Amino acid sequence: MKLNQIIAIHALANSIFEAEIYVGEWAQNVQAGQFLMVRVHAQGERFPLTIVATTHTSVTLVFRVIGQSTRILSESVQGDVLYEVLGPLGKPTIVDLNKKTCIIGGGVGNAISFAILKHFNHHNQDVIYVGGFKKLNEVFYASAIETMVTSSYFYVEEGNDQYLVGNVLKDLKTIIESHNIAQVYCAGPLLMMAAVTEYCKDLNVDVIVSLNPIMVDGIGMCGGCRVELTDGVAFACLDGPEFFGHDVNFESLRQRNLMYDDDDYVKGEPT
Ligand SMILES: Cc1cc2nc3c(=O)[nH]c(=O)nc-3n(C[C@H](O)[C@H](O)[C@H](O)COP(=O)(O)OP(=O)(O)OC[C@H]3O[C@@H](n4cnc5c(N)ncnc54)[C@H](O)[C@@H]3O)c2cc1C
Ligand code: FES
Repeated sequence: MKLNQIIAIHALANSIFEAEIYVGEWAQNVQAGQFLMVRVHAQGERFPLTIVATTHTSVTLVFRVIGQSTRILSESVQGDVLYEVLGPLGKPTIVDLNKKTCIIGGGVGNAISFAILKHFNHHNQDVIYVGGFKKLNEVFYASAIETMVTSSYFYVEEGNDQYLVGNVLKDLKTIIESHNIAQVYCAGPLLMMAAVTEYCKDLNVDVIVSLNPIMVDGIGMCGGCRVELTDGVAFACLDGPEFFGHDVNFESLRQRNLMYDDDDYVKGEPT
């Protein structure tokens, strides 16, 4: 097996792919909440993806195809060797394992939330899981998650017979109150994380968000991932990607992301 070689790659749902990459020994140093930077070809751009799972020598990534780099990665096949895979990057998760927790995922953010769910599971802590997707054919990991928690709620915006219809905010207040939630973890579109943070403020519940600003180098040199916090400025690649939602200036982050593109996951409608 060669370094950065694709062990397996397949579609999980519409435009959502899962890939396992052989990265050698650094896979053993990965902690929940961390990410890596990947470059498919020498001429390609470096972009960040969350490390969803690991073995002793491999990492699993889940990504949504939204632009050129993710499309090229999705067209790779088993045995291909990626030009560069740099990790693990960012700080490990800041969740408190001892607090009654509700984990929320929106769209491809469910991959990031799944990694945190596995962290709680590994420490034998039950959580409440709330997942949201725009369309039925975008749902992934729901069956696996249902077997890992005692209570889960899955929402799909379009009408369907399988899941609740709506978005993750629909019953959130009731879920938080009825389960005595003390901490919420949220990964997904920016507007969804901002809205969840507002709910949590009103209910006096801690909230941790996994931010997705533009990253160029992923190692603190370019300033691309600058995040405004109540007490100053942070860089998501070094100080994050997780932050306490109450500290984040979501509006300035939205403005920065808008400068680059109009994709939902980055600018994002609540999912
Ligand atoms: C810490 C972190 C973890 C992430 N984890 C995941 C994940 O697990 N799965 C997943 O599907 N996506 C994840 N993302 C988002 C992912 O990096 C972007 O979707 C990807 O870079 C898009 O590249 P592209 O060339 O396909 O699209 P482009 O055509 O370049 O852009 C499409 C959209 O992606 C945004 N984008 C482009 N480059 C970056 C970049 N370097 N950093 C952030 N956003 C960018 C643009 O603003 C635009 O809205 C994560 C982002 C961050 C910051
Ligand atoms: S990605 Fe360059 S400073 Fe964070």
